[in-house]
Amino acid sequence: MTFVVTENCIKCKYTDCVEVCPVDCFYEGTNFLVIHPDECIDCALCEPECPAEAIFADDELPAGQEAFIELNAELAEVWPNITEMKDKLNDADEWDGVEGKLDKLVR
Ligand code: SF4
Ligand code: F3S
Repeated sequence: MTFVVTENCIKCKYTDCVEVCPVDCFYEGTNFLVIHPDECIDCALCEPECPAEAIFADDELPAGQEAFIELNAELAEVWPNITEMKDKLNDADEWDGVEGKLDKLVR
């Protein structure tokens, strides 16, 4: 099992999740974060910290978010590690809850 960052993180990237992860397994892109599935210890600490409610256990993903399992695994191999909270993206609050953001993901 692993936890997975899903679509609502895109263009928000609040980064509260990073601050609580005991094993520093978050990786950062321009407008999205991912969790490395081989490093996550399933502690569940990050899930309630995300203001955008974008983090789920891989066996509790909302319908339509299944592709994010593979996307987290793939991008965690190429993006840099992030271990400290930073400012959310500009307009994060405007994008929180907007559906269909996958095409806005910057790889
Ligand atoms: Fe880190 Fe725990 Fe969240 Fe996994 S579940 S990403 S180990 S805080
Ligand atoms: Fe993204 Fe939520 Fe973390 S918006 S950066 S998963 S706090």
